[in-house]
Amino acid sequence: MTAKATVLCGAVILLAGCEGRQSALSPAGEDAAQLKFLFLVMLAGAVVLWLALNGIFYYVTRRQPKAFRLKHPDRLILGAGVIFPTVLIGALLVWGLSIMPQQRASGDGLTIRIKAEEWWWRVEYWPEGATQPVIAANEVRLPTGSRSELRLTANLYIHSLWIPALGGKMDMIPGRETVLTLHPEKPGIYRGQCAEFCGASHALMAFETVVMPPEEFADWLQAEAAPARPAADPAGEALFRDEGCGACHAVRGTDFTGQTGPDLTHLASRASLAAGIMQVTRDDLKRWIAHTGDIKPEVAMPAYDWLSDAQLDQLATYLEGLK
Ligand code: CUA
Repeated sequence: MTAKATVLCGAVILLAGCEGRQSALSPAGEDAAQLKFLFLVMLAGAVVLWLALNGIFYYVTRRQPKAFRLKHPDRLILGAGVIFPTVLIGALLVWGLSIMPQQRASGDGLTIRIKAEEWWWRVEYWPEGATQPVIAANEVRLPTGSRSELRLTANLYIHSLWIPALGGKMDMIPGRETVLTLHPEKPGIYRGQCAEFCGASHALMAFETVVMPPEEFADWLQAEAAPARPAADPAGEALFRDEGCGACHAVRGTDFTGQTGPDLTHLASRASLAAGIMQVTRDDLKRWIAHTGDIKPEVAMPAYDWLSDAQLDQLATYLEGLK
């Protein structure tokens, strides 16, 4: 491959990374659009500075010494080497700080409390005036057209919540509450990711963010608040009980009230399984239950590898019914 072709291929691959549902350069909301603009202006400033300084460097080192007779070389150094970069970077800093207030604007509707657990997300929706939350896990849903407030904390380690297509990232710190507000504009499913190294399964700590029009969101929230529908096949539910799953997982509408693990009430209506790394399909459910630790190192849930294939099928049937 020629050098030109290599550079071209490299550029195409790099630019391809800018598209998609986990990219700060494909904004789906007001905050992310502003951050993208900030990035592009900063990039342009950096390019101008880089070109100017390299041009001067080239001029003073490569020109013939005889042709190069500066009367005041100190002025060049002072002007181009100190004043120009200081003014340019200073201007970018002042402008960058001036757009921060919008990124810190307060919410005007829904509050969502999210707690980072050991490699999954505990999520509570608090609509305005609510006295108790709608509990979910491992997925964030947001309505378009308003600014939702995400109140964040963590269990044991420091994590960071980042949905690049919707806005900036925010640390999640044990014993402290941090706030991130987001104003999504484009319905769709965007990937979020833990953005702070937090241990063995940091890279496997993701989630889907479903952005919906307000009416659709209200319908979804109402459905999410309802208890789980009764199991169609009692065998899976009985096995769930016998294996003690309900000691860690809650399924509203049943006597499973465990709080250690994710709430499973509407598991099958979520866009992903095991915090963004698997699908809610029969195969993935069975694989996850039997091999948790292999799939997500140091996860708290033990691998139920003693269950037969038929038993895993029964559990999967039960979980697939939790819509
Ligand atoms: Cu949680 Cu990285």
